[in-house]
Amino acid sequence: MPYEPTVDKQKRPAVRVKSSRFTKRFGKAREELLKWHQLHGRHDLPWRREQNPYAVLVSEFMLQQTTVTTVMPRFRAWMRRFPSISDLAGAKEQEILAAWEGLGYYSRARRLHAAARKVVERHGGDIPVEESDLLRLPGIGAYTAAAIRAFAYDQHAVVLDTNIIRVLSRWGNMSDPIDTALGKNNLAAIAVSFFPRTGCRAMASALMDLGATICKSGEPDCLACPLEKTCAASEPKKLPKKSPRSVTTKLVEHRAWFWKANRLYLEQSRGPHWRGLWILPEVRNAKSSGRSLAEITYPITRYRVTMKVHRVIGKIPAILKGFTLDELEGLPMPSPFRKVIVKLASTSQ
Ligand code: ADE
Repeated sequence: MPYEPTVDKQKRPAVRVKSSRFTKRFGKAREELLKWHQLHGRHDLPWRREQNPYAVLVSEFMLQQTTVTTVMPRFRAWMRRFPSISDLAGAKEQEILAAWEGLGYYSRARRLHAAARKVVERHGGDIPVEESDLLRLPGIGAYTAAAIRAFAYDQHAVVLDTNIIRVLSRWGNMSDPIDTALGKNNLAAIAVSFFPRTGCRAMASALMDLGATICKSGEPDCLACPLEKTCAASEPKKLPKKSPRSVTTKLVEHRAWFWKANRLYLEQSRGPHWRGLWILPEVRNAKSSGRSLAEITYPITRYRVTMKVHRVIGKIPAILKGFTLDELEGLPMPSPFRKVIVKLASTSQ
């Protein structure tokens, strides 16, 4: 069954999409957009060049919350290390976590691994095409299912990622915040009409690329936009609207630097963020540890965390494990920890 975003019948969409004027406007916009995309699309993205469902699955997991620029080299390395879904399904979790390094949000790596195992178990290694089968796999929600249907199989699917949401909410000049029921409803109405019955791969790629290169979040380049003539936005920079919500919260955490006999002592995280990864242990009483050796600031979910690392002398807790610098290299570790450890290790020898 194709993916159809739920349109709440109680709340009539403020955007009417059925009149012939509207139908013409959609037709014209689609035509101009696809023409533009043939010339200016990002056809070289490595997951698009591969055009195989496994590559699409991997890239969609990686691209959730991580930028295209960061993902590109990691995707290539991943495909060399786990070239097929059965290689991934057969790998150990620690290998997967190590290969995911730099992408953050490690739960995605675990879910991708679990999804690969289920695909092998339930579908003989073929990534399913039906939305209902896709939705039963770990880590696959409405967006990823639609993306796999469109990018891997060119099936009908309404793909709504951040870039596409921005383009469509501007094009339809949507005044309702996109995180409200009414806003979602209106967006769904526009999106359902914008995506054709066939050719969803090209349409999803074109909308994404337009959002990434022209209809950007800060400064849209309307003069270069193929949708300029059909776009209804009066103040595109201000769209999409979101309801006021708390912005990022600043946090400070204190971590311990236990260095003894050329070994750094680390703890294996038991979650919730970095389960299974090796991290510097937290210092409970930071004041007694004096000035920090190093600091690093990193984002995680809605927080901006400043990590302060303190030298700790004395008995090493039994829960920690010591690693030489060589051993640290292959160890799965969140990237802010890797950065601070690389910085400090050079001065600890
Ligand atoms: N191509 C396919 N999926 C994509 C995504 N999520 N971001 C950018 N390009 C893509």
